[in-house]
Amino acid sequence: MSRRSLIAANWKMNHTVAKATEFVVPLRAALPRLTPVDLAIFPSFFCVHALAEALKGTGVAVGAQDLHWETSGATMVLIGHSERRHVMGESNEIVARKLSAALRDGLVPILCVGELLSERDAGNETTVVEKQLETAFHTLAAAVAAGVVIAYEPVWAIGTGRTASPHDAESMHGSVRAWLHGRYGDVADEIRILYGGSVKPDNAAGLIAERNVDGFLIGGASLDPASYIAIAGAAVPR
Ligand code: PGA
Repeated sequence: MSRRSLIAANWKMNHTVAKATEFVVPLRAALPRLTPVDLAIFPSFFCVHALAEALKGTGVAVGAQDLHWETSGATMVLIGHSERRHVMGESNEIVARKLSAALRDGLVPILCVGELLSERDAGNETTVVEKQLETAFHTLAAAVAAGVVIAYEPVWAIGTGRTASPHDAESMHGSVRAWLHGRYGDVADEIRILYGGSVKPDNAAGLIAERNVDGFLIGGASLDPASYIAIAGAAVPR
């Protein structure tokens, strides 16, 4: 089963409307060579409209960085990002409620999971991530679960310049895939598992070459169009 890579840019609170619109110029020019991959940008809320207008007709998705569990409305949404879990104190249960709400409203959620450095040092990374998955998918049937994108983002790699090695990333992605298989059977092969945490143009090719790495969720390196385009280019199958 082949999964199209998804290269997702998480701009957090960066970029003004003017900067966001400027970003689209080189991106549009690069699109013809990026057609084999799916692209998505998650700007700050006040840029969502302007960016969606500037990207109209390009096929690049624009998404929200979070949602509330009451009714809402973008096309894609990040859920359970480590900064929400660990800075804003969101529990696995809150994340699960948001995931259900996103699916109920027809959004494509990117569910973020990942362990803290202390949890990895204690050898608990797989248990932590499986617990996050168990709570998030608890009530979801296979047909619904197929619409979720997962992003494995080890917390110690986010914004730190310290990336997981391709081997460590694949080892966790393989465990996530195995967990999905155990719960959903073959549907597991349709679900994309992105890697996030200090992805850069120079480490993207090594990571994307791994079997179960199906794209990226990029923070810092997604702010500059040249580096975002280079990372997306690394995911174009050769
Ligand atoms: P980073 O952020 O690429 O700057 O490490 C990733 C993320 O927060 O999703």
